[in-house]
Amino acid sequence: MNLTNAIKLRQANREFKKTPLTAEEVEQLTEAAGYAPVARGRFNDFLITVVNDPATIDILEANDTGHPFYGAPTVIMISTTLTGQSGFLSAGMIAENIELKATDLGLATCTILGVVKASIEESEAALNSLGLPGDFHPVLAVAVGHPDHELKPRNFVTNRLRTVTIDPEK
Ligand SMILES: Cc1cc2nc3c(=O)[nH]c(=O)nc-3n(C[C@H](O)[C@H](O)[C@H](O)COP(=O)(O)O)c2cc1C
Repeated sequence: MNLTNAIKLRQANREFKKTPLTAEEVEQLTEAAGYAPVARGRFNDFLITVVNDPATIDILEANDTGHPFYGAPTVIMISTTLTGQSGFLSAGMIAENIELKATDLGLATCTILGVVKASIEESEAALNSLGLPGDFHPVLAVAVGHPDHELKPRNFVTNRLRTVTIDPEK
């Protein structure tokens, strides 16, 4: 898929089919993650955990209300040893790479911070279920799966994101 099409098609999807991802799909998503920029190139300070196991997803969302991963068959957790902005911002870059690649593969995604803050950070069982080594802590997740309805590309005729341009004076 052309990059502009993927950018316009990617959207927060909150209803998924139960169909699991294939190993090839997972591999392509994790490969795309590895091309993301991270602060100071500290790739060893980040860890991607691909959770395909429904029982583990249940544990991750157990302390939240509702189903914050929206029934997605796969949750990709991004963890880091970094505290503060470098960790959060880099996780966002990694998530966007995963989401654009997923879109390219005909999959749908939703970035998830809510359950990380509301459930996982406070739950020993959830943290244990991720089996993170050492100082790693989860910062952001991406729910991935097949959308339950066809996604349509969006065209934001007016800029959704306010933009100011500063040109040189003529
Ligand atoms: C850092 C971040 C955290 C988010 N956390 C959640 C979340 O916990 N639950 C959720 O349903 N959507 C979450 N979203 C998705 C946003 O609500 C969504 O991207 C936004 O409304 C714009 O819609 P779009 O992605 O369809 O363009 C998050 C997005 C970002 C960037």
